[in-house]
Amino acid sequence: MGSSRWYCSPIISAISGEPDTRKASSLNQDMTTKPGTKKIILSGMRPTGRLHWGNYTGALENWIRLQTEYTCHFMVADWHVLTTALDKAPEIELNSREMYLDWLGAGLDPEKSVLFIQSRVKEHAELYLLLSMLISMGRLERNPTFKEQIRDLNLGGEISFGHLGYPVLQAADILMYKAHAVPVGEDQLPHLELTREMARRFNRIFGNVFPEPEPLVTKFSRFPGTDGKRMSKSLGNTIEISATPEEIRKKIKPAFTDPARLRKSDPGNPEICAIYTWYQKFMPEAAEETATECRSAARGCVDCKMKLADGIIEHFAPLRERRAEYEKDPARLDDIIRSGCERARQEASRTMAAVHEAMGIG
Ligand code: TRP
Repeated sequence: MGSSRWYCSPIISAISGEPDTRKASSLNQDMTTKPGTKKIILSGMRPTGRLHWGNYTGALENWIRLQTEYTCHFMVADWHVLTTALDKAPEIELNSREMYLDWLGAGLDPEKSVLFIQSRVKEHAELYLLLSMLISMGRLERNPTFKEQIRDLNLGGEISFGHLGYPVLQAADILMYKAHAVPVGEDQLPHLELTREMARRFNRIFGNVFPEPEPLVTKFSRFPGTDGKRMSKSLGNTIEISATPEEIRKKIKPAFTDPARLRKSDPGNPEICAIYTWYQKFMPEAAEETATECRSAARGCVDCKMKLADGIIEHFAPLRERRAEYEKDPARLDDIIRSGCERARQEASRTMAAVHEAMGIG
């Protein structure tokens, strides 16, 4: 699968299910986990709508794998949505539920992992405030992710204090659960670095409370959307993991292929075709034959897409079915949300007790 210009093989070994060979010395010695206990992971997603294939291949799929090896915390980052999209406030509650449904459908297991909503654990707000004292304005303003957002979102002079503080809130999320590792995409690395700085500074001033979390980078450069560009909600080129068979067919039909292949008799170039990348990802057993038949013009794009649609419909069928089960039973979903948030709150209150003691206030 390494040949496609699109689909980079995911993640570093720590995520791929192989033993974690990083030296214990890369973690703060006092705070490494005891032998036999699992390392702690935290990650989060902003609830902005149903998850699409890009979210799935770039994050969710790895999270599911990580559940067996680590003690995982997965957070619906609802407060974070407000930092750049205050107008989305009325949709957040519903989107948070949709996010749970996508997570549960895909295989996150509430028995194994703590699945919680940021705004239900008020301790995050307190730790955010305390951490905000440990970082300078200049350092936050120099954050490359922040600078990019300002450029891309056309925010001009209207930058909220909360937006500037985005990485401080994220640091609070991570440090609250004393995470050793944080699975993130490359775009989040500057935030992780800021988190590490705040942890170091806190530990230096007040004594060791927080491990310095390591990033587990999801090496997913680009996963193509229906137009061949990177799949992203803002480009309107997504296919949701919960899409129905009809939606899947409808979206695959006009999707981007090799633009130079005009007739069925023209040989195609699978390397630049979104359809081929999707084969590699979701129907790897059929990928090689697909590439061969594309190059020799033995298979036309229409047939190729129909075959892919069938395969993808099957690939996501268990996910759709599981999701539908949870969707049918809102009381059960409420319970899962409630108990996940309760577990998170218990852990958070322990951490805050340690913070209060170290600082001598609170
Ligand atoms: N900033 C992350 C994103 O946009 C979401 C997030 C919030 C997060 N808090 C986090 C990710 C803590 C990892 C750890 O994708």
